[in-house]
Amino acid sequence: MDELNTRKDAALAAIADAATPDAVEALRVEALGKQGWISQLLKTLGKMTPEERQEKAPAIQQARAEVADAIAARKQALDDAELDRRLATETLDLSLPAPVTPKGTVHPVSQVMDELAEIFADLGFAVKTGPEIEDDWHNFTALNMDENHPARAMHDTFYFPDRDGQDRAMLLRTHTSPVQIRTMVNEGAPVRIIAPGRVYRSDSDATHTPMFHQVEGLVIDKDIHLGHLKWTLETFLKAFFERDDIVLRLRPSYFPFTEPSVEVDVGFEVVKGRRVLGGSGDAPGHAWMELLGSGMVNRRVIEFAGLDPDEWQGFAFGVGVDRLAMLKYGMDDLRAFFDGDVRWLQHYGFSPFDQPTLSAGVGATA
Ligand code: DAH
Repeated sequence: MDELNTRKDAALAAIADAATPDAVEALRVEALGKQGWISQLLKTLGKMTPEERQEKAPAIQQARAEVADAIAARKQALDDAELDRRLATETLDLSLPAPVTPKGTVHPVSQVMDELAEIFADLGFAVKTGPEIEDDWHNFTALNMDENHPARAMHDTFYFPDRDGQDRAMLLRTHTSPVQIRTMVNEGAPVRIIAPGRVYRSDSDATHTPMFHQVEGLVIDKDIHLGHLKWTLETFLKAFFERDDIVLRLRPSYFPFTEPSVEVDVGFEVVKGRRVLGGSGDAPGHAWMELLGSGMVNRRVIEFAGLDPDEWQGFAFGVGVDRLAMLKYGMDDLRAFFDGDVRWLQHYGFSPFDQPTLSAGVGATA
């Protein structure tokens, strides 16, 4: 019995002195491991007579419990001390300046929107924005799509739950065209604006995402005709794609908010598996690609916006910003635009120092 107590006291003292988790573990193995001395003592109990066992077992069990508790307590104390040490050393000083090399990149959509603003600012256009949560009147009715207009069905609209008994009153805008209406209503004429922004449609595959980007263009003035539209689009696309050989084909089409309406195709050829804009679509090895919708603003739209269509006319156009980015910078999957994958952003993103300017070239190097 005395010998047991002496060994136990020695073990407890050693545990209290142990300076590292490894030292504590070594002491645990020595006492409580398979070959440990307390484990060995416990084994002897089986061979004892019941009387003997009754006499000796409590002291051995007691020793085992005390040593096990001491080991657990010492381990915890060492862990706590280690955590305190790390908390004291691993501080983060938020007042320090950021690292000199910026790690983030400008998203291609932002970059292209900046390029558009730069190009159109040079032509005298202001940049306007409108709400993404839009009402039915601005998104549809005022754009000459009344409640029963079949074109509404093509918009795959996200509606908000009914409010105040009003059915389908609010929605996520399906295009940037409502900004045409808001600008004319708020500012009257003349107008020369572009309106870039997010739009939403319930649609999803490799070339469609439920949220995407458009840029709208609107010019309202006196004696505006289709020639102005063609020149503006040509000048814009030549500046944007940085090529003088961009050739457009205007094709008759239909949009409720324009009359006449034209779909604009642009000539391209396939170079190393990639579509490269330039040249007539009728030239050998070339083809036409549909790029944007446009037309002369419908008189009814000008009326809805509170202006006199006999006095004011104009043209409008709408084009996908993501599509422009893909064509210019060569991405082939639209979904990756909105995945937030850092590797994609590092590859396709732009340096914040690459501000698009007409003098330095709007096409910053990706
Ligand atoms: N709003 C149309 C759409 O989302 C695009 C469009 C076509 C805009 C012709 C226009 C336009 O301003 O004149 O499909």
